[in-house]
Amino acid sequence: MKVTKAIIPAAGLGTRVLPASKSVPKEMLNIVDKPAIQYIVEEAVAAGITDILIITNRGKGVIEDHFDHSFELETKLQGNASKAHILEQVEACSNLANIYYIRQKETKGLGHAVLCAKSFVGNEPFAVMYGDDVIISEKPVVGQLMDAYDKYGCGVVGVKEVPRKDVPKYCTLDVTPLEDKTMKVHNIIEKPTPEQIMSCYSILGRVVMPPEIFELIEKTPADPKSGEVYFTDAMLDLAHRGLLNAVDFDGIRYDMGNKLGIMQANCEVALNHPEIGEDFKAYLKKLAATL
Ligand code: UTP
Repeated sequence: MKVTKAIIPAAGLGTRVLPASKSVPKEMLNIVDKPAIQYIVEEAVAAGITDILIITNRGKGVIEDHFDHSFELETKLQGNASKAHILEQVEACSNLANIYYIRQKETKGLGHAVLCAKSFVGNEPFAVMYGDDVIISEKPVVGQLMDAYDKYGCGVVGVKEVPRKDVPKYCTLDVTPLEDKTMKVHNIIEKPTPEQIMSCYSILGRVVMPPEIFELIEKTPADPKSGEVYFTDAMLDLAHRGLLNAVDFDGIRYDMGNKLGIMQANCEVALNHPEIGEDFKAYLKKLAATL
């Protein structure tokens, strides 16, 4: 069955980027001239996804405003021919896809956030695109995962190898090769100790799941320490049944949930930006010479 729905969990507290994320959701932090979440919505649309549910919470209404019309602004721009290209960009934000919203009323982890999408998804496979992971690629990464879902008919996680010292911040996967960049997943350990590392492959920002994942999340107990329901625990259940693959995707992922990630995203996107790319490159070269 073709994947046409995606959910974007964006209800986290963003404590690693405070105080920036105190009143501006981290998913709305800028990369040059667009908020992070717009890159994610554009990636979904480029992959053929038509319906997107964004999981928000109190204080994230600004996300809804961004994808809505801004009549006052648009009327003002309509009266100024020299700003036609800006008007086009502003209007495009509100016409990207069918975007829906639901609130996660308590911040109880990514698994709990995904479960909020159960009735939106129904009995179809769907994509989860983490709201603070922006991935720049030629072919949309979620589309790369959707291809693998079509081919094998089981859940797919997007993975990349991360430096060994960083694996304990993410998760570690036990995998065996299937073909090209696709692997079978046998085991996942969330936030492993250095001794538990099975490979340097970690799940980064995109997955495509069968609807059965909701039952597995419902059966997943909350972590006794943090009170959070870990999404990886439910995906591990799929792996144990032989129903989970991994795709080592082509693309560069930026973690907008940490300060260095935000700066790397801004720097690299600015270098390729049609309006400011050349000037920014010249500025960076000059700056680098002084370091
Ligand atoms: P993170 O664990 O990176 O988000 O979740 P966080 O909790 O905001 O991070 P820190 O540690 O406090 O800085 C990955 C994605 O899942 C969403 C987040 O908004 C982020 O886009 N999320 C996380 C939810 O929607 N709900 C949650 O309960 C937790």
